[in-house]
Amino acid sequence: WIRDPLVVALRRRIDARLERVVPSTDPASRAVGELVAAGGKRLRPLLVYLGGQLAGLGLEHLDTLAEAAELVHVASLLHDDLMDAAEVRRSRPAAWRVLGPKAAVLGGDLAHVLALQRVRPAPSPAMARFLDGVGAMVRAQALEIEQVGELGGGVPAWRSVAYGKTAALCGWSAEVGALAAGRPALAEPLRRYGESLGLAFQGVDDLLDLVPGMDPGKVAFADLRARVPSLPIRLAAASDPALART
Ligand code: FPP
Ligand code: MG
Repeated sequence: WIRDPLVVALRRRIDARLERVVPSTDPASRAVGELVAAGGKRLRPLLVYLGGQLAGLGLEHLDTLAEAAELVHVASLLHDDLMDAAEVRRSRPAAWRVLGPKAAVLGGDLAHVLALQRVRPAPSPAMARFLDGVGAMVRAQALEIEQVGELGGGVPAWRSVAYGKTAALCGWSAEVGALAAGRPALAEPLRRYGESLGLAFQGVDDLLDLVPGMDPGKVAFADLRARVPSLPIRLAAASDPALART
């Protein structure tokens, strides 16, 4: 899908816009700039553009919302890499390794504010749903801390974390164009589509941790070493109780 001509054109569009979002050269701005420049699939902005076009909006009415979707994702990754002590992100040393943990925390905060500034002018349901989504991300990341080394709750427990970490923002990205266009009845199925895609995406991301080389942008077995109960680990433990005890 990433080579589809439509996707290539939309990724070029968002990349060109993201190049210009970093406000200054202070360490927080540099942390945001480093991660933005490292590229990425731009899944969330793509969902904004595709969902919004379905709702009848032109790309020029979706640009700032697409930026917001990627910026809040960048914010979460800057903080996540610090929390996970992850050395590599998008094939580069993680921002906290290059600029230090303080710059990474402030970079995450700055990217979050840059996202909020872009959602603010949109009609109020877009902002309300955005805040719900970011709240879900924060709570899911906190829930994951409690789950480290614990397999209790099985796949539903994984789902709760994956929903907040990934599905909530993907759902918002897919629905926000319809919300901005004043079409709530269309927003609902688009949100459910984005959430389902986000859950599937997180499941695949979990699996890639166990396949060295499959994601050259990351170090393999990081989840396993950190005793994160990822989806494949939970499924393996459910199918073989002896494995769960090791
Ligand atoms: C990556 O998960 C992490 C996320 C998708 C969300 C992290 C959420 C937060 C830090 C809270 C929200 C914070 C802000 C500032 C909005 P992962 O560690 O499973 O994936 P990875 O392998 O890509 O690191
Ligand atoms: Mg991580």
